[in-house]
Amino acid sequence: MSIAQLQVVAKKLIESKNSLAFTGAGISVESGIPDFRSSGGLWEKFNPMEYATIDAFKRDPEKVWTMLREMDKVLEAADPNPAHSGLARLEELNLLSGVITQNIDNLHQEGGSQTVVEFHGNARRLVCIKCGQAVAAADARARWQEEFPPRCPNCQQIMKPDVVLFGEPIPAEASSLAMGMAQVASVMLVIGTSAVVAPASYIPVVAKKSGAFIVEINPEDTVLSQEIADLTVRGKAGELVPALVEQIESLLSK
Ligand code: APR
Repeated sequence: MSIAQLQVVAKKLIESKNSLAFTGAGISVESGIPDFRSSGGLWEKFNPMEYATIDAFKRDPEKVWTMLREMDKVLEAADPNPAHSGLARLEELNLLSGVITQNIDNLHQEGGSQTVVEFHGNARRLVCIKCGQAVAAADARARWQEEFPPRCPNCQQIMKPDVVLFGEPIPAEASSLAMGMAQVASVMLVIGTSAVVAPASYIPVVAKKSGAFIVEINPEDTVLSQEIADLTVRGKAGELVPALVEQIESLLSK
């Protein structure tokens, strides 16, 4: 990471009338939540085709809940890190219209972001795939001693987290909101995503094709780095985002 790069991004955000952040699991790694595809990631431990598809859930919900309960423990213990609160600060400064996130950990909201598009849902809610009843995951968790996997209070079907499993559609409202925001953004911060899962991976491409300046914040190269990113800032989100906010605050104070 170079300060000069952050100063370029800071100026772009101050000049831009409409900036947007698009985030993936990498932004929550410094909150203690492993990402999916880096070494030690979740998919190294659990084959996503066996544990993270809607068909696998329907076939053997108890098996999928063994992975979900492990994920729940990690999510429960996680707090927002300076990258989450940094994006919330940019929103407070009216320099960010919001965050489109692939993450289901609720950390953007807990970090203070007001406009968060949950492209893959949110694990803080459980939903019944039969009757649509929703409950708070915290309420179900409190009863796990007596009832695991959690069952729908309405029809007794096993419930699932309100997250998009492979093979499920993206919630229509989140999809249209995200694509609409990407089409009008003039700057997009793409933070902590390998951008390999569609249709989420189209979002930075839509922004780019609509004329946005794309800034990639990631310790590693991704499929976006060559063709889509206009500026690749190599490093950890938990360090780079607060450093970016610092550059912006000092420019605004002049
Ligand atoms: N700061 C910034 N980026 C980081 C950090 C960090 N501290 N640590 C890791 N990364 C980067 C990795 O280099 C990688 O490019 O975050 C990215 C994480 O990529 P994935 O693990 O593939 O996560 P993500 O892109 O969010 O996956 C998309 O795939 O499995 C599905 O539904 C799941 O939403 C998820 C989707």
